[in-house]
Formats: sequence, C-alpha cells, structure tokens
Amino acid sequence: MLRDRVALITGAATGIGEAIARLFASQGAQVHILDRDADGCKRVAESICADGGAAFAAGGDVRSSDDVNAWVRGAIERSGRIDILVNNAGIYPRQAFLSMAEEQWDVMQDTNLKSMFRTLQAVLPQMVAQRSGKVVNLSSVTFHLGMNPMSHYVTSKGGVIGLTRSLAREMGEHNIHINCITPGAIKTEAEAKVVTDEQAKAMMAAQSLRRRLLPLDVARVCLFLSSELSDGMTGQSLNVDGGWVMY
Ligand SMILES: NC(=O)c1ccc[n+]([C@@H]2O[C@H](COP(=O)([O-])OP(=O)(O)OC[C@H]3O[C@@H](n4cnc5c(N)ncnc54)[C@H](O)[C@@H]3O)[C@@H](O)[C@H]2O)c1
Repeated sequence: MLRDRVALITGAATGIGEAIARLFASQGAQVHILDRDADGCKRVAESICADGGAAFAAGGDVRSSDDVNAWVRGAIERSGRIDILVNNAGIYPRQAFLSMAEEQWDVMQDTNLKSMFRTLQAVLPQMVAQRSGKVVNLSSVTFHLGMNPMSHYVTSKGGVIGLTRSLAREMGEHNIHINCITPGAIKTEAEAKVVTDEQAKAMMAAQSLRRRLLPLDVARVCLFLSSELSDGMTGQSLNVDGGWVMY
C-alpha cells in the first residue's frame, strides 16, 4: 500500500511508533525513524531491515530544532523526497495540577506539541515543493474526556488537534493532507509503568469492545491516513479507542 513512499516517524523505538514503522515498512515504505532512545531506534531499524524492509534510524530529541532539522535533511538526502510524516513521539507522566512545577508543564508542551511545530516546519516545504504529502499527528482521546491528573498532557493533546485543523486548512491548496489520531488506552510498555491493572480494567470496561487495544490497532488507522485510501480527508481526528468516546 505504501510502495516506495518515504515516511518519517518520530518516537519509533517502542510502542505505537515502532508498530507504525514496522507496518509501513511491511507495506513497502522506506522509513526514517527518530527517537531519543538511539539504541532502541537502531534495534528497530535493524530488525525491520532483517525482515527485508528499508529503515534508517537516527538518535535525536524532538525538543531540539537542530536534531529535527538534521534528521529531515538526512532523510531528503538519502531518499530524495518525503511522502509521509507521523508525529508520534510523546510523554504521558501523571501530575496533580496544584503540585505541578512550571518546568513539568513546559516539558510536556515542548515534547508533545512544540515538537510538531519543529517537524512540520522542517518537512512541509519539501511537501509543498512536491505538491503532495500526508501528515498524521498523534493526539489522545483524553482531550475529549479530560483526565485526572493529566491537565498538562490533555492540554498538549488539545493543541495537537488545533494544529491539525488549522494546518489542514492552510495546506490543502498544496494537496497536503493533515489528520490526527486520538487513541484510547493502548497497551504499551510505557503505559504499564503508569497505569495499574485495575485502572486498565476500568478503562476497558468503558470501551464497547472488550479487549485491550494494541499498538497495531493504531498503526493500521495510521496506515489508512497515510495512504490514498484517505485522499478525501483532511483536518480530521479519528478515535481509536474500542468504542469508548463516540464523538
Ligand atoms: N499508549 C496509550 O495508551 C496512548 C493513548 C493516547 C495517546 N498516545 C500517544 O501516542 C504516542 C505514542 O505513545 P506510546 O504509548 O507508544 O509511548 P511510548 O512511551 O511507548 O513511546 C514513545 C516513544 O517516544 C520517544 N520519545 C519521547 N520523548 C521524546 C523526545 N523528546 N524526543 C524523541 N523521542 C522521544 C520515547 O523514547 C519512546 O520511544 C504518544 O504521543 C502518546 O501520547 C498513547
């Protein structure tokens, strides 16, 4: 489905980003992945290549314009174009608002939201020149629900939806599609560190589907939004949450 497409994916050393990178590569894309976990990122790229795919790893922080710009330049030098950008890197530590330090608030916005300003500023000129492109931003269904104690996180993910909608309007004339996924509770190693079994069960009980959602569930929707199957859509958010939120 993505034969010879060039895809850039942030935060792909593990979890949802890794699943997206593996699925895209299995569909014929050349994937360029960036993660602050340089070793993990390299392991994922090597494993994709061992499976017959094409993957290039870069260690780097999405909070650094220098890292992001060097990564995007490198991908263009190596692959000649950029067809897809998936803004996936993100963090989700819990913190009660009244005991939240200003720095915790800032790190959250910088990692989850301003990072997308950096990647989009680096990638969009190339897509404009090509007169085509697909961007998928990872938000969260918690934006619709609110979540305690995650005000800094939910605010950052609401910003992602605002950015998606506004840029979709601005970039439509260049044939660039910008959409968003709002995942529900996805079973990842990182989630297991902050969510107890009891909390996971409660979230599953709120879903219509009675199973834990996996990174591949999100990756499949990301594939749809990155392929020609979604050519009539831009500025949209799709809930991948097992039927939890229905608006
Ligand atoms: N897992 C869930 O239940 C869930 C639900 C809703 C939304 N999301 C969103 O999906 C995305 C992926 O989540 P996940 O569960 O796979 O997380 P994860 O922690 O498993 O993976 C995130 C990856 O991003 C990388 N990363 C974090 N900060 C970075 C930085 N500053 N620079 C470069 N890389 C960085 C991490 O090293 C990691 O490899 C996030 O944006 C998250 O907010 C996840």
